[in-house]
Amino acid sequence: MCGIIGYAGTADNAFSVLLDSLEFLEYRGYDSVGMAIGNREGLAVYKDKGRVNELRKKIENAGIKGNYGIGHTRWATHGGVNKANAHPHQAGKVTLVHNGIIENYQELIERYDLRKKLRSETDTEVVAHVLDHYYDGDALKAIGKMVKELKGTFSFAIIFADQPNAIYAIRTVSPIVMTKTADCSILASDLMSLSSFSNDYYVLPELSILKMTSSEIRVYDLSLNEIELQAKHIDWQVEALGKAGYPFYMEKEMMEEPKAVEDTIKERIRNGLPDFESDALSDEVFEKLHSIMIVACGTARHAGLVAKQLFERVAGIHTEVEYASEFIYNEPNLHQDTLLIAISQSGETIDTLEAIRYAKKQNIRTLAIINVKGSTMSQLVDYPLFTNAGPEIAVASTKAYTSQLSLLYLLVGRAAYVRGTRTKEEVESFISNLQRAPGLMNQVLECKDQIHQIAKEAIDDKSLFMIGRGLDYLSLMEGSLKLKEISYIHSESYASGELKHGPISLIEEGTPVVAAITQDHLVSKSLSNLKEVKARGARVYAFVKESLIGNLDKDIRIIELPNADSDFMVFPTALALQLYAYYVSMEKGYDVDKPRNLAKVVTVE
Ligand code: AGP
Repeated sequence: MCGIIGYAGTADNAFSVLLDSLEFLEYRGYDSVGMAIGNREGLAVYKDKGRVNELRKKIENAGIKGNYGIGHTRWATHGGVNKANAHPHQAGKVTLVHNGIIENYQELIERYDLRKKLRSETDTEVVAHVLDHYYDGDALKAIGKMVKELKGTFSFAIIFADQPNAIYAIRTVSPIVMTKTADCSILASDLMSLSSFSNDYYVLPELSILKMTSSEIRVYDLSLNEIELQAKHIDWQVEALGKAGYPFYMEKEMMEEPKAVEDTIKERIRNGLPDFESDALSDEVFEKLHSIMIVACGTARHAGLVAKQLFERVAGIHTEVEYASEFIYNEPNLHQDTLLIAISQSGETIDTLEAIRYAKKQNIRTLAIINVKGSTMSQLVDYPLFTNAGPEIAVASTKAYTSQLSLLYLLVGRAAYVRGTRTKEEVESFISNLQRAPGLMNQVLECKDQIHQIAKEAIDDKSLFMIGRGLDYLSLMEGSLKLKEISYIHSESYASGELKHGPISLIEEGTPVVAAITQDHLVSKSLSNLKEVKARGARVYAFVKESLIGNLDKDIRIIELPNADSDFMVFPTALALQLYAYYVSMEKGYDVDKPRNLAKVVTVE
C-alpha cells in the first residue's frame, strides 16, 4: 500500500511531474497525499489528507517551482487520516516518504529518545529521526546504519537538506523501480508512473541504496560497493493507462477482458496443445508432482479455487488452496514434490510473498501467475508465468482474474497431457473450449444493458445472498467479493446445498438472492435450492446458461448467459457478475475505482 515517487531533473517541473505521477500511484492508497519539492532556495513540503486532485487544486496556483522532489500517496496504517500523519516526514536534515510498516518503531522511539520530538503518530517519522541521528554528511553510510535498526517492510525515498538535486532510496519487500532520460531520473513504487518517461527501467534490489540525480542513477550494496543493474523493458504502451472514454477504469478493464484472456493464452498454444516452452517450464515439473499447493489472496485465491477443481478432476493431482495470509502461520508440512503455485495480479502482495518464502525455505518448487512484470514475486519464484492483461488500475480486479483462470486452465491441460490422465484428443478439445472463452465473454458484454437494469434493483438493498453449486459457487464467491468491495452491500456466497444447514434462516420476504446456474450436471439440484429460497419469499435473480433456461420457473428474473461446456462457464459468469457489481456501485454514485478503505496493492500483513 502507499505509493512513493522521487524525481530529479534539470527543468523546474518537479511540481507537475510529482502530482501527475502521484495520480498514477493513487490506486495504491488514497487517504492522504504529500510531496517535498526542492530548488536553489531550499525544500518545501506540501501535504494534506484527501486525494491528489484536492491537493492539486489547493496549490496549483501557488507558482511552486523546483527541479527535484519526493511524493507519497497514503493508505493509513499507523495513525489516523490527517495532515500531520501524511508524508513526507522530516527530522533535522532528513525528509522522507515511506511505503510499508516498521514493526519495531516503539522500540526505536525508546532507544533514540524520540517521544518528545515526534509530531505525528506514524512509524515513518521515527525512521526520519533515526536516519538524521546517523547523518553526518555521508548519506550512504547513514542509510546503511539506519536500515540495520529497522524491522519490517519498507521502501523509502529520501532527501537530505544539504544535498540538493539528489534523491536516495532503499527498500526491502516493498518495490522501487526507476528510469532515466536525457534530463531526469525518476523512481516510483511501480512501472505505471515511469512509462511516460521511458520504456526501459531498473528494479532496485532489496537492501541496496539508490542515489539518483538528474544526470545519473547509481546503486550500492550495504558495504557501499557499486552494483551494476540490468535494464528491463516495459512491453505495454502508455495509452493502456488512460480510461479511453469510460467513466471508470473498471468498466474499461471489463471491456478489455476478452482480449486479455486471448493475449494470455494465444502464445502458449501450439498445435492445439498448451505449451510452456517460452516460459521455460518443462514437463518434468508436472511429471514429478506429488501435489499442488495454491496460495493467494482475495480474487486471486478465487481463481485458485477454480483451478483446484480442475487440477483434481482433469489432471488427477491432489490440490489444496490456502489463504496466503494464513499459510505460514499454519506451519504446513509440505511433501518435497509439492509444487507451490502463487497467484497475484500485482506480484507484490506481502502475504503471498511470505508464503512463497516459506515454501522456498523448505526447498519446494515455486511457480507464480503474475500480471505485473518486474514485480518482487516474479524475481522470487522458480517459474514466473505472466498473464498478458496489461495494467489493471481499478482496485476491483476483473481482467486479471479471468486471465489468471485462462493461464491456470492451460496448466491443467498441460499437466493432464503430460501425466496421461487425458488423451491428446481430450486435451485438444479442452484447449479449443478455452479458446472460445473470449467469444463467450464478448457475448456477455453485448448484454450488459440487461445486467445494468437488474443492478438498479439492488441499490437500496443492505444485504444479499449469492447461491450456486460446483463451479457456480466459486464464481459467486468472486461475484460476492466484487459486490461487497465496491457497492458496500453486505453480500454472502453460499454453496446452495449448504443453505438448509443454517443460512436459510436469514431468508425472508424480499431478501435478494442472486443465483448462477450453468453446470449441466447440477441443474436439478440447483433448481430445488432456488425453490427453497423462493418459498420463503426471496427475490431471485438467476444468471443462467441459455440451454438451461427452460428448466426455470417463469417468475424468476433471468439473465441469460451464453452456452458452453460447463467447465468453461466460469468465464462468462465471472464477467456477468463483475458487470453486476459495477453497475450497482455506479448507480449508488460511488467512486467505483477507489472503494473506501481499500488499496490495489496490499503490502502490509
Ligand atoms: C480484488 O477485487 C481485490 N481488490 C483483492 O481481493 C485482490 O485480488 C487481492 O488483494 C490480491 O491481490 P494480488 O492479486 O495483487 O495479489
